[in-house]
Amino acid sequence: MSATKGLEGVVATTSSVSSIIDGVLTYNGYNIDDLADHASFEEVIYLLWNNRLPNETELTQFKKQLAEAATVPAEVINQMKTYPIDKVHPMAALRTSVSNLALFDESADDLNGEANLQKALKLQAQMPTLVAAFARIRQGKDPVEPKKELSFAANFLYMLNGEEPDEISESAINKALVLHADHELNASTFTARVCVATLSDMYSGISAAIGALKGPLHGGANEQVMKMLSEIGEENKAESYIKDALSRKVKIMGFGHRVYKNGDPRAKHLKEMSRQLTKITGESKWYEMSVKIDEVVTNEKGLLPNVDFYSASVYHSLGIEHDLFTPLFAVSRTSGWIAHILEQYENNRLIRPRAEYTGPSHQEWIPLEKR
Ligand code: ACO
Repeated sequence: MSATKGLEGVVATTSSVSSIIDGVLTYNGYNIDDLADHASFEEVIYLLWNNRLPNETELTQFKKQLAEAATVPAEVINQMKTYPIDKVHPMAALRTSVSNLALFDESADDLNGEANLQKALKLQAQMPTLVAAFARIRQGKDPVEPKKELSFAANFLYMLNGEEPDEISESAINKALVLHADHELNASTFTARVCVATLSDMYSGISAAIGALKGPLHGGANEQVMKMLSEIGEENKAESYIKDALSRKVKIMGFGHRVYKNGDPRAKHLKEMSRQLTKITGESKWYEMSVKIDEVVTNEKGLLPNVDFYSASVYHSLGIEHDLFTPLFAVSRTSGWIAHILEQYENNRLIRPRAEYTGPSHQEWIPLEKR
């Protein structure tokens, strides 16, 4: 029995939610390029949960259901005010808040289909409300109630900023949400599936997934990219900064991928968004610096940008605080996590692999006083 480090190349389940085949990402067979160009995030959620696109009536109904489920119980918001607000990372706050939501949902442990669907709606709809509420509370402001008539993307920005966004910002957030919605058996999705495969509840699965997404090797990388861009400061300093980091074997955040070796298909969309948005804000330097870094890392290491690299300058241009980048990723990925959780429940078997033992054997017991 020999172990595969990081489970690289191991096929751990079947799934019809999304696929990466020959470097092409699809959600239920729809190419990510088409979805990025045409779909609303609400349509994508519907697709991921139902394995088909909604018709017009179904989409209207689904949007209404999501909008109606977006208000978070007051107790959860009040508890948020007791967090050590100036010290805690928003991802830690989100993990705790999602766990708190379960305490105020009497059907949290009911795993039947209809109860799970209601939980799915609540969790998906309330994620942006939680992220925005935390962001405002730590600024000493009151949380903003969701508005039923706004799209998912517009509502997020509205709850964050207290004013309705312009069309460009709404459309950029929508596209970012679509691009991050699902990604086959990534680390956080696998975590969610392992958790619910014990027949634990959906809130536990999502809390566990948030914990996995938080790490800088996964979703946490987008915040680290912006940290790096801010440290570099100017495009003309990018080359020496990156070469120096690489010579010290420092990993460049936003580059490399376990599955894609010829490029992440989501990155080109975010790159173009970064170009356009930084031009609008008059801060093209973030885009130009990113392109320079991209060039140097590719030349030096043959590594290509992943979804997290250009999303950093996109979110920065939309005025989103840097430590909210990963929570925004979580808002989107909740759709994929839920799709996988539902799929896991549908055809469940406990996920329990083996470990190759490398410790000592045949040890003789030593009484405490002799150690
Ligand atoms: N910068 C510099 N070198 C890198 C990078 C990087 N970003 N990524 C991989 N490498 C190097 C490794 O050091 C290693 O070199 P070695 O063989 O000389 O030791 C080689 O490439 C293989 O890398 P691994 O870390 O073994 O690749 P793995 O498949 O385990 O990891 C990962 C993939 C975690 C994405 C990695 O590329 C990385 O750490 N990237 C930076 C963090 C990041 O951007 N994460 C977001 C990924 S996308 C997402 O989760 C949403």
